[in-house]
Amino acid sequence: MSDAKRKLEHIEISLREDVVYTGECRELYSEIVLIHQALPGISLNNVDISTRFLGYELNAPIVIEAMTGGHPSLKPINEKLALLAREYKLAIGVGSQRPILKYKFNQEVIDSYRVVREIASDTPVIGNLGIAQLHETSIDEIKKLVDVINADALAIHLNPAQEVIQPEGDIDFSEVLLSKIAVLTRELGVPIIIKEVGNGLSMEVVSKFKAIGVKFFDVAGACGTNWIMIEALRNPEDSITRALGVNLLSVKWGIPTPLSLIETRHVAPEATVIASGGVWSGINACKMIALGGDLVGLARPLLKALIEKGYEGMKKYMELYIKELKTTMFLTGATSIKELRKKPIVLGPTIRNYLEQRGINVNNYLSNTRIRE
Ligand SMILES: Cc1cc2nc3c(=O)[nH]c(=O)nc-3n(C[C@H](O)[C@H](O)[C@H](O)COP(=O)(O)O)c2cc1C
Repeated sequence: MSDAKRKLEHIEISLREDVVYTGECRELYSEIVLIHQALPGISLNNVDISTRFLGYELNAPIVIEAMTGGHPSLKPINEKLALLAREYKLAIGVGSQRPILKYKFNQEVIDSYRVVREIASDTPVIGNLGIAQLHETSIDEIKKLVDVINADALAIHLNPAQEVIQPEGDIDFSEVLLSKIAVLTRELGVPIIIKEVGNGLSMEVVSKFKAIGVKFFDVAGACGTNWIMIEALRNPEDSITRALGVNLLSVKWGIPTPLSLIETRHVAPEATVIASGGVWSGINACKMIALGGDLVGLARPLLKALIEKGYEGMKKYMELYIKELKTTMFLTGATSIKELRKKPIVLGPTIRNYLEQRGINVNNYLSNTRIRE
């Protein structure tokens, strides 16, 4: 199957079907309690959610996550996402750039991504490639992928669960790939961001990449768009692989976003960490930043709002998201992202129990690790 056709199918299935993680995320979020301050001591007008990321000043700590590109018919989607990034001064990722490799740097294919850089000219643009593609891609080709869209960073996605269920997936995720990424961190010229796609990063994985010089992580935890399910639905109804996907989902495979965020921050206290994967409200965004994220990222709801309600509908979603983030910061008494990470948090028993079993001292995490100056 062509990469472009696969991307179109992904978008179509992710919008049409119920492909959201079914685990206990709602309960986990309610176990993260920020303390309401009846006298916040500040004015809402003084709440500043701007932040620095990849050398740019963003108006809000938000990344429009990697979704699309690779076919001329996908260019209008990237165009609208980029308009949103420009209007709100947010960071934006493009979808996997594998089609550029496949179609040998065909100009039309490049343009479906490049439009993002052209429109979002004053905000960070993040390139994207799957780790499994590194087997057959030279360092020079990867540099060229960055150059053709003038990216400020390259996200490398780790998606073993997706690839296993994908009918034509790559299943070689051996550690030889680490040495290639080590070279890239030195030679690419822009930072590497290690991301999942919806099953979460663990502290074991983050430690491996940290050891070779990676300083940016996007947790893409299991709480939002579920790629096991999207791929399962692309398999024939009575196939074993489809049943495998459904069964993995029914046992709630993956690391829920809040837990993946803590795992990542715990082993990479100095790194820039994006909390994504079902962070679909500004209220939960506030919780994720207070818990140690530098930024939050979101994907599917923006695409859904765009396709179903047009640019204005997507903009409305973002307006509410930002308003929720600002309001909850106000109610905790935080005037900045930095202050928010110092505000008290109470964690419920499921999270505490998980962290204890993972060898993370909760009190030390909350009073030291999550706080970044
Ligand atoms: C339609 C769609 C396409 C995506 N394509 C990519 C991709 O090409 N590369 C990638 O790293 N992640 C991709 N993702 C994953 C997102 O970047 C993000 O990590 C994940 O969906 C979690 O965000 P969400 O729960 O807010 O949707 C895609 C997500 C969606 C919804």
